[in-house]
Amino acid sequence: TILILDFGSQYSHLITRRVRELGVYCELQACTYKIDDLPYKPKGIILSGGPYSVYDDVSPHMDKKVWELGVPVLGICYGLQEIAWDLGGEVAPCESREYGHADIKIVAENKLFKGLGDDMKVWMSHGDQLKKIPEGFRVIAKTGTAPFAGIDNEEKNIYGIQFHPEVTHTPKGKELLRNFVIDICGAEANWTMSSFIDREITRIRNLVGPTAQVIGAVSGGVDSTVASKIMTLAIGDRYHAVLVDNGVMRLNECETVKEVLNEKLNINLTVTPTADLFLSKLKGVTDPEKKRKIIGNTFVEIFESEAKRIDEEQVKLGRGKIEYLLQGTLYPDVIESISFKGPSATIKTHHNVGGLKEDMKLKLIEPLRELFKDEVRHLGEIMNIDSDLVWRHPFPGPGIAIRILGEVTPEQVRIARQADYIYIEEIKKAGLYRKISQAFAALLPVKSVGVMGDSRTYEQVIVLRAVETTDFMTADWFEMPYDVIKKISSRIINEVKGVNRVVYDVSSKPPATIEWE
Ligand code: XMP
Repeated sequence: TILILDFGSQYSHLITRRVRELGVYCELQACTYKIDDLPYKPKGIILSGGPYSVYDDVSPHMDKKVWELGVPVLGICYGLQEIAWDLGGEVAPCESREYGHADIKIVAENKLFKGLGDDMKVWMSHGDQLKKIPEGFRVIAKTGTAPFAGIDNEEKNIYGIQFHPEVTHTPKGKELLRNFVIDICGAEANWTMSSFIDREITRIRNLVGPTAQVIGAVSGGVDSTVASKIMTLAIGDRYHAVLVDNGVMRLNECETVKEVLNEKLNINLTVTPTADLFLSKLKGVTDPEKKRKIIGNTFVEIFESEAKRIDEEQVKLGRGKIEYLLQGTLYPDVIESISFKGPSATIKTHHNVGGLKEDMKLKLIEPLRELFKDEVRHLGEIMNIDSDLVWRHPFPGPGIAIRILGEVTPEQVRIARQADYIYIEEIKKAGLYRKISQAFAALLPVKSVGVMGDSRTYEQVIVLRAVETTDFMTADWFEMPYDVIKKISSRIINEVKGVNRVVYDVSSKPPATIEWE
């Protein structure tokens, strides 16, 4: 394992990504993490960048025990300054902040830049820089403005660089990281998805033991499906998946999930047919947050009573109790809860499936908590999960209830579902589904005048939304080809009773959000 200490840089998670891409397992921890708490000895440590200046009173510093481990250390940007601050160098503010491309020259033969040539393009983003290097160190790289762009202490295997190798703007950055983690640290490149499945199955079997049982909620999304498949491989039908039909899933979705999970993937699945209950609770409600609350609370209620029912049924059959709750938590959620967020950072615990009550007294089991989304998709592919499901766009828990503006009635659900179905079908046909990060149709609670044949119509409006994004925090609207929009619009107006107008949403996030509610 490579340990990455996070000093709050926006790029910290990218270091983790790059090291994993090299096939090396690594973990990110807050920079203030206590080395004594480490359950393993890392092969090497990477110190990330960060927004602080090492001399600020409030700036974070790492546990000095890092130096006692005797393993190689690489400091990136703030990480370099932290090394200098700790080991007797000097750091000072630059005359002007350096941000953007720079060319560095390699000025001494060294292990970190081995095989990368005499100069390279790099990405800089810093306000401070080194003024004096610590004793025992030498300069290995410089730029026109930064005389200490890279330093090393070969004897102690400590390296520092002023630029960011983890971003794609540093083209040879990944090779530099390979030099560090593989050659200098001697880490093994054995982090593959199939080895992950084997290890995880063993871990789950040991954790759950021979009789205890596990329950989990599935939604038809890739995370809960992959997590469920791993559980099934590990403990068979001692894992119980529950799909709560909340009446606001997409057209035919419940049936499709049942078919894929139960019949193709052999997952022990129970579907609760509770659509009517949800819809009756949503009657007369128009406020988006109220809709979310009602759906969330009703979900928890039903899931808990289902868990109780299955537990009692299993005990009657002479089988073990349900002791664990499966959650599809991913690594970005874990990072989010451990990242260093400032001098007064408190660590928050993340609840992916919001709102399940503590008194369910179930222990959590999170097979995906070390993985990024694309790793989960890759896992899905090697476990032969339908690619439609593996590449499915994210779908909000409150479903199309927050895509039906105004009251959610069975009739509005019908219209929104049919329109969305046609929309998604057409973007798949046009080969655009995987280029788009998220697409859906929303139903507006306004009527407009139209004409059909010889008569006047007065019907509702469907808005088509499609966005491109990597993190869903910001998003650009997708430039949908006109011929595709044309086809979708004409199909929706012709096939979906109650709609006479289709519009395309051209708003970015921010200031708009991706969903309409
Ligand atoms: P917004 O609309 O905030 O959405 O730009 C960002 C991402 O979050 C999803 N989303 C939700 N997911 N429950 C969920 O599980 C919710 O209440 C919810 N609201 C928004 C949205 O689909 C998008 O991917």
